[in-house]
Order: sequence, then C-alpha cells, then structure tokens
Amino acid sequence: MAEPLFIIDLLLAVFAAISAIPLALRAAGGRRLRWPLIVTGVLLAARIVVAALLWTESWHLVSDRVTVGLPVAVLPLAVTIASAVRGARTRIAGQVAATGVLISAYLAWVPQDPADRTVIAAISLVILATIGAVAAARLRPWATASRAARLPWLATLSTVALILAIVGLYVQNQAPASAAGHGHHGTAIATLTGPRQGTPDVRFTLVAAQGKVRLSSGTDIEALTFNGASPGPTLRVRQGQLVEVTLVNTDVAEGVTVHWHGVDVPNAEDGVPGVTQDAVTPGGRHVYRFVPNRAGTFWYHTHRDSQEAVARGLFGALLIDPPAGPDNARSHESTLFTHQWPVGKDLIGALDTADNRTTQHVDAGKPVRLRLINSSRNPQRVQVTGTEHRVTAIDGNAVHEPGPLPSGGILLLSAGGRYDVSFPMPATPVVVSMHTAEQTDTATRVLTPGADDTAAPRATGDGPVFDPTHYGTPDGTGAQRPANRTFDLVMDNGFGFANGDFAWANTVNGASSPAIPTLMVDRGDTVRMRFTNRGIIDHPMHLHGHRIRVLSRNDARVSGSPWWTDTLNVAPGESYEITFTADNPGVWMDHCHNFEHAAEGMLWHLAYTGVSGPTHATHSSE
Ligand code: C2O
Ligand code: CU
Repeated sequence: MAEPLFIIDLLLAVFAAISAIPLALRAAGGRRLRWPLIVTGVLLAARIVVAALLWTESWHLVSDRVTVGLPVAVLPLAVTIASAVRGARTRIAGQVAATGVLISAYLAWVPQDPADRTVIAAISLVILATIGAVAAARLRPWATASRAARLPWLATLSTVALILAIVGLYVQNQAPASAAGHGHHGTAIATLTGPRQGTPDVRFTLVAAQGKVRLSSGTDIEALTFNGASPGPTLRVRQGQLVEVTLVNTDVAEGVTVHWHGVDVPNAEDGVPGVTQDAVTPGGRHVYRFVPNRAGTFWYHTHRDSQEAVARGLFGALLIDPPAGPDNARSHESTLFTHQWPVGKDLIGALDTADNRTTQHVDAGKPVRLRLINSSRNPQRVQVTGTEHRVTAIDGNAVHEPGPLPSGGILLLSAGGRYDVSFPMPATPVVVSMHTAEQTDTATRVLTPGADDTAAPRATGDGPVFDPTHYGTPDGTGAQRPANRTFDLVMDNGFGFANGDFAWANTVNGASSPAIPTLMVDRGDTVRMRFTNRGIIDHPMHLHGHRIRVLSRNDARVSGSPWWTDTLNVAPGESYEITFTADNPGVWMDHCHNFEHAAEGMLWHLAYTGVSGPTHATHSSE
C-alpha cells in the first residue's frame, strides 16, 4: 500500500510546484490570489491526506514529510490564505508560500540526510525568499515595473535557483574525504589474513567457469558455475578446522572472488574485490585460508559483478559442523537455495534448480533438517505444509529453545539470509514450497515417507509469517554493554548521484556510493546502529565480518531468544536497532544484499582506525 501512496505524493508535489508559479507571479504583481491559492491549497491538502494515510502504516515512511517537507509549504501558504481571506496584503506572503511549495517538492524528490542540513537548508531558503520578497516590494523601480519588464529578471532568477539546486545536489553527493583507506600507516589490509602457515585440515578447489544449468522444467540457463554446477559444491567443514580453498577462474571475463557470507573471517580473506583483494581474472587463482569459529549454515558467492554473477550461478553452500562433527548424524538433511534464475528479462524462482515439483523419499520418524538459503536478490516466502516445525537457527546462529510453528506457516527469508528448520518426519508427506510473486508454477519439494507424493497437502502460499522478534526464550546473554558508538542510517528512494551518475536511486542518508561516508570504529567498540527504511523497497542490510544482534523492531524490543543475524531485511517503514562488537579489524563492506541496489550505489564501508588499504571506494566493489 505504501508504494502507490508514495507515487501519488510525488506527483502531487510536482503539480503543487507547477501551481506555485502563477501564485508567485501574481503575488509579485500585487494581484488577487484567489484561484492560485485555491489550487495550491487543494494540492497541499491532498498531500497532507496522503501523508496521514502513510503515517497509519508507519511513522518512518513520513518522518521527513511531517517534520520538514510539508510544514515548509503549508505554514506560509496558510498565512497567505488567512491574509487573503481577511483582505490583507498578500504580496510578500504569496511569494514566500510559493517558494515553500517549490522547496517542499524538491525535498519530496531528493532524499536528504536526516541528521542535518535538511531543516536548516529548507528554513533558510524560506527566510531568503521572505527577504527577497520584502526587498522587491520596497524597491520602487521593481514594484512599479510592468510585467513585461519583470519577466527577464524572473527568468534569470529561476534559472539561477535551478542551477543552485543541481549544484547543491551534486555537492551533497561527492565522496567525502574519508579517514579510511588512506596513507601508508597502520595495519595494511593485506596483512589481516587467516593462518598462512600450516597444513590445512580441509582443502577445496573451486573452479569458476561459464556453463549451462538446466532447471527441472527443462529451461536452460546461460550460467556461471563452480566446478561445473550451480549451486556449486557444498563445502562441509568443522568449526576450528583450518580451511583452505583455492579459487581458479577459467573464463569468467569480469573476474571472480569468493566471499564467505556470514563467516567472520579475517579481513584479507573476505573476498571483496577492490577492498581485500583484486578480482581473479581468467587464468588466475587465489588461495583463501581461514578457521571458522562458529557452526551453522553459511554460503559462499562471488563478490565481483555480483548483481549478474550470483544470479547466474556463482554460489554454493558452506556448512560448518560443530568441532565434534555433525550434531545429528542420522537425520535427513536438505540444503535448499531459494534462487531466482535470470531467463531473458524474467526471473524464475527455484529451489536450487527445481522450478516445479520434485519429490524426495524420507523415512517416517527420521529427524529432518532443512537448511534454507536465499541466494536471490529479493526476500523469499517459503511455506512448510504438513507438519509443525521449528526454526532452529537463523543465519547460522542457534535459536534458544525454539517453539513449534504451525503447519502452513510462512518463513520470510531475507536476501542472503538462512533458516534452519527441523521436524520429525511424519507418516504423511511434507511440502516445502517457495512462493514468488507472479509465478504460477510453484517451486515445490515434497518430502514423502511413502512411495509416491499423491497424499501431499496443497501449499497455499498464505499463512502466519514467522516472526523472529518473539521466538524462543532468552538465553541469559541479555545484558548488553552500553554502546560507545552509534550510527543512524536512513534509506530513501529519490534522485541522487549513484556511482557519479544522476539517477533515481536508493539512498542512505541522502547519498549513494561513493558519497556514503565510511563508518569509523575502534577495535573493541560496542556499536549500535539504527536502520530505517523511509522508502518503498525492501533493503536487506549486510555487514561483512561481524554478526549483528537485533535489539528492536519499530522500537519494540526483541523478546525471546537473542536474534543474531548477518543479513537483516528492512522492509518499507521499518526501523531496526542492532548492535555488534567491533572485534574484527579491517575495512568491511556494508551493503544492501539486493545486489541490484548495491550495484546502483547502496554500499559503503565500516573501517577500523589504523587499518589502511586500497579501499577508496571510488570503484564500487559490489
Ligand atoms: Cu553475501 Cu557482500 O555479500
Ligand atoms: Cu536495497
């Protein structure tokens, strides 16, 4: 519902701005304002109604409009209308009101950093307009000049205003002089490696190459593969082992890296081209070495040209078992990627490569563990029908005392996120289905204890959505150290400069890469961050190198099990408070895991003071 309202508001803002022109001209000419005031007034009233409707959905969708964007137009307009009704002079008030309406339209279309500038800039412009109008009214030659004589001046003034607005926008979007990534002092990223000496406990080779992937429906994908397949090989290791992975690029022209999503590896092993390493070009190779320090469900994917390369197949599962080995050797395990395969302009939703119905036999009574991994760029709805089930881990973090979820419940996986789901196999089939909008043939996996799946229940795609904020029980690690560093990130949709080009963008505090400032921390900091989505699209926030703990959603505290995550979907109108400990020095990518958004500039960095490296972020490294 937010999206149409948002668009209506943008249009109303434009119409109001157009209506402000006759208002300004007539006011300057000292003429009656009746009709312009009615038209502009009606348009602004409509904007207020739209804002009120958005507000009923979430305050965060309208905070900017209610505090600055609308008052800047509504207040002077109300004064003008009041004067007009009383028959008082409206020459100055009318011009100020028109200026306010124009500024208001600008603020609706161009996202601002909520922390500063907006209020000051908007209010000072209105004051300037007032001074200008007063001065013009006092200036004899101007006040008595004919309309024809004024026109060239007005034209010049508006051109100057327009140029100033564009220059302002441009300046606002310049890369800030950042403290990170400069100079040759301190620790170089290249030295922040995993153990370089010693024989690895496990060794893998991942060979990236162009290839073909066939979906279960028969559709062929022009894919990119690891070891000839996609998803690539499942890498299964144990916590505490020294893992060595050699990446070889056969013929992926854009280059390849491997990022260990959710595993807090040392910085130089993180696989971010342009920050922690150079992308591996065809014919090249790169060796990663690290010791995973937590067991759980993780995944790996290229971080070069991810928007295309991950969608086309450069990803796979990374399963980390506890030091003693798999916790339940006799259980049935399925690792399933919810993926969207690019076919022409379309995306086909599939569980791994199964885009229709597939069946798998599981003995009744067997413990089942599903590891769901969302490798697509959108949030995915997965429904488990036919049995109660429990979410035992989120993003590789065990949930404390997870309770039963009803059959037919929906699991909403954020892009990049994982859920481990457990249940004992009943004597009747269980259906795991992935529900993508606009897809008629649902990707479905039927687990059946019998010989066929004829008794399988129907997946409706509708049901109660799993809510991690009130799930499980507290584990006693409730006490948080007070944060000594806080960051506030607000996401908007609007015009800006993304990667240097003027564009309709997804912005963070009014900016896009490379203009989003690097977040600086010191080792040992307890960091608190707030993510607020004031726009109309989901943004899965992913910070490399650290797991984060969610403290609250829309200011309601997380109760139940601690919610640890590495990829947090922030839906339109949502606001989350999270915390993490700065315990992994380096320069870390922080970005939206909708790779399309990241490619368009929704990425920035978290850097530790004293760490230097090639991260000048002038080249997006998504
Ligand atoms: Cu899974 Cu920077 O990403
Ligand atoms: Cu996004």
